[in-house]
Amino acid sequence: MLKIGIINGPNLNSLGKRDQKIYGNLTMEEMNYKIESFAKKESIELIIKQSNFEGEIIEFIQRNSSKLNGLIINPAAYTHYSYAIADALRDCPIPVVEVHLSNIFSREDFRGKSVTAPACIGQIAGFGFQSYILAIHALQDFLKKKSEKV
Ligand code: DQA
Repeated sequence: MLKIGIINGPNLNSLGKRDQKIYGNLTMEEMNYKIESFAKKESIELIIKQSNFEGEIIEFIQRNSSKLNGLIINPAAYTHYSYAIADALRDCPIPVVEVHLSNIFSREDFRGKSVTAPACIGQIAGFGFQSYILAIHALQDFLKKKSEKV
């Protein structure tokens, strides 16, 4: 059974209240429920963490990556400037997929730069909560191909 971690960064706990035109109307809990339901059908165990604190996100990555097969991260605004999270992702031994609810490339200029994505196997942006479902698919595929190679 695959075990995948999901990290949501700052302000994602306010989903449902944030700009709904950009982020949709689901709360974080409703979004997590949808992702959990999908994972259950695929027999995937999820460990979901949200934090508004950079250091807490880094500690989650450091403490949990050896217990997980893969990681999905939405670093939220940290995407655009946290070299510390980027380093933690680089140091972690499992594949990471970066996700965004919104298409960060069609918004303000500063959002078009991700310092964390280069530490990931890929990035999915712009599909609302489906970005997370697509990321699970991507990790399943990546891990399957990796295990076939050995
Ligand atoms: C976000 C995009 C970021 O630019 C923003 O700071 C967020 C959410 C997204 O999921 O679209 O908080 O990561």
